[in-house]
Amino acid sequence: MTIPDIIIAIDGYSSTGKSTFAKLVASEFGFLYLDSGAMYRGVTLAGLEAGVIADGKIDEEALLPVMAPLELHFQREDGATKLFLGERCIEKEIRGWEVSQYVSPVSAIPQVRAWVDDKLHKFSEGGRVIMDGRDIGTTVFPNAELKIFMTADPAVRAQRRYDELLLKGEKTTLEEVEANLKDRDYRDSHRPTSPLRQAPDAFVLDNTHMNLHEELVWMLGLLQGKFGLLESPGLSC
Ligand code: DC
Repeated sequence: MTIPDIIIAIDGYSSTGKSTFAKLVASEFGFLYLDSGAMYRGVTLAGLEAGVIADGKIDEEALLPVMAPLELHFQREDGATKLFLGERCIEKEIRGWEVSQYVSPVSAIPQVRAWVDDKLHKFSEGGRVIMDGRDIGTTVFPNAELKIFMTADPAVRAQRRYDELLLKGEKTTLEEVEANLKDRDYRDSHRPTSPLRQAPDAFVLDNTHMNLHEELVWMLGLLQGKFGLLESPGLSC
């Protein structure tokens, strides 16, 4: 039995390792990986560069015409899917501290959400896609054949994010990261448009005490339960 060309939706809190998990599942089982948060980050970066996001303020009216012509797209490079703005790879810039500060309010703007959803639908036209975000299984692809909701203890998530930022050479403190995470959790789950929610038909993956290999074994069990024994389920990690 092989896995059919389904859409797999992965939602959950920030810093639960959704994208790392989704990328790994994509490469293990031959899916195209799409990172919806990266799209919101791309719009935020463009807003910062255009000066319509500055000094703690987002000029929503001015952001929309900046966003409309943006050529944001994913491209495979060095074995990974990366976000490009036209010809320029912006994968590194969109992960920085400044973008992270503004991305949550930017992603709460309904017109921004509609624009990103439209792009995600276009990118997924061929099927066999795995996507991660905050509303993929509830709003963007409510009919996705497989939905996963990721969660983990907030202190563990903050430590993971802090370690990630340190590795990138960003100057911040664990307290700052914890506050930013708490703020994002609250905003993501309380915004009026597409709040972060667990879809009723989603499988919960709490990875507080799990490593990537254990997550992958969990996923294999889920896929086998759904589609029967898979051909060559040998896992690489
Ligand atoms: O997963 P991430 O941290 O890269 O996401 C960045 C922001 O975008 C985060 O504040 C939540 C938001 N987001 C969203 O609202 N909907 C999605 N489908 C994905 C991300």
